[in-house]
Amino acid sequence: VPAGLAAATGGIGGLWATADVNTAGKTRFVNRLAVPPLAPSRRDRSGRRVYDLRAAVGSRRFRSGRATVTWGVNGDYLGPTLRAARGEKVLVNVRNELGEPTTMHWHGMHLPAAMDGGPHQMIEPGAAWSPTWTIDQPAATLWYHPHPHARTALHVYRGLAGLFIVDDPKAGTLGLPSRYGVDDVPVIVQDKKFTDTDQFSAERPMMGGTGILGDAILVNGTLAPFHEVTTQRTRLRLLNASTARVYDFGFSDDRPFALVGTDGGLLPAPFHTTRVQLSPGERAEIVVTLRPTERVTLRSYPPDLGTDLWNSRFTGGDDTLDILELCAGHVLGSSPALPGVLAERPDLETAGAVTRSFELGGHRINGRRMDMSRIDFAVAKDTTEIWQITNCGNTPHNFHVHDVQFQVLSVGGADPTPELSGWKDTVYVPPNAPVRIAVRFKDYTDPAVPYMYHCHLLYHEDQRMMGQFTVTDRGDAPKTSPSHGHHG
Ligand code: C2O
Ligand code: CU
Repeated sequence: VPAGLAAATGGIGGLWATADVNTAGKTRFVNRLAVPPLAPSRRDRSGRRVYDLRAAVGSRRFRSGRATVTWGVNGDYLGPTLRAARGEKVLVNVRNELGEPTTMHWHGMHLPAAMDGGPHQMIEPGAAWSPTWTIDQPAATLWYHPHPHARTALHVYRGLAGLFIVDDPKAGTLGLPSRYGVDDVPVIVQDKKFTDTDQFSAERPMMGGTGILGDAILVNGTLAPFHEVTTQRTRLRLLNASTARVYDFGFSDDRPFALVGTDGGLLPAPFHTTRVQLSPGERAEIVVTLRPTERVTLRSYPPDLGTDLWNSRFTGGDDTLDILELCAGHVLGSSPALPGVLAERPDLETAGAVTRSFELGGHRINGRRMDMSRIDFAVAKDTTEIWQITNCGNTPHNFHVHDVQFQVLSVGGADPTPELSGWKDTVYVPPNAPVRIAVRFKDYTDPAVPYMYHCHLLYHEDQRMMGQFTVTDRGDAPKTSPSHGHHG
């Protein structure tokens, strides 16, 4: 059993009070990082890869004191990592034993709307839901989490989330570290607030309307975690699975690392940097090099939210946080050099594209809140559109689109930075710096079942800062009068 998998249950290594936990430089990393187990799967008669997931109530001791009541998938907290290859047909049986309705959404996945697990695909308590689809996208770190109408923050905060790794057998590993849990390590980052009785606290908005900001950081459900490094290079698959907090990840000695992938897959080329910022829902794959016996801490530095007013209020002042310690052994296995080229650069043809604009403000998109019975617009299959997203206030927001991976064309009129040059499904939208994206809608038409687009700060999402679109054969009829389409 690889070292990282031995502690898959987490919390065994030691239980610690959180007095100094996560204050930069003060954390004692006493708990071995839990690595979510790979979900077992089997083949059914038609060759589909089948997984069984079960969402249920559990409890776990994250620290000294009492056990915390949690929710988890196939366990007490978080869920197993699903893994499938491009071209495979998958079927996931999701059983709901929570005692209240939920859903399971495949964040970042291209799939038919009826399989998407949004708020229209509710799973009643005691019931199961079995979506099936063919994996049809490049290798990427995707994830899954519930998406019930106005209850998403709570369900994710209590512990329902996991990774869905897509492999691309054609691309192979390209020499990237790829031994799961050893040198290819999930890093699911969440901030929590514990009550004096060691429960997840304040399941309601804090900090002036951004949602819960916790002062204790869990990585894969482990508090104050360390990971033993056994090879020269380690790939970390970072996922911001927090309700509201934005992280700006970097190492305590400012060492450079290679950013190799973003939400939808590998970047065109490794980008050598010292920081990568992730808002809720975003992912990054980074490769870091260690020398024998080195110890270095992955931290989060105060993010650049593009609004000074909000920086301190949102982050709670100086919030440089310790996330994870990497400890290298005396002898490190050699790792291949990073390739110079990883993937093709997204290059969607945008000539003649329909342009739509989305204004974020007051927990609304274009002045409207989510209405389950209103489909905001229809796009035509097999077309590319340009979407312009503007944050009209000074509150942090991001923007996530279901079904697709998009290409960022510009931010505030400037070319996208290297970290925005690959495929994305979620993007931070700074105040007053419009983000233009190119989105291609390929197939899977269904005029009756919509996909969602929304802010992924989960409190905002639950405030119904969300809209719905369908993919149809022709899209919306062309607008004939300028007043058309403006409903309060
Ligand atoms: Cu990660 Cu609509 O969600
Ligand atoms: Cu928002």
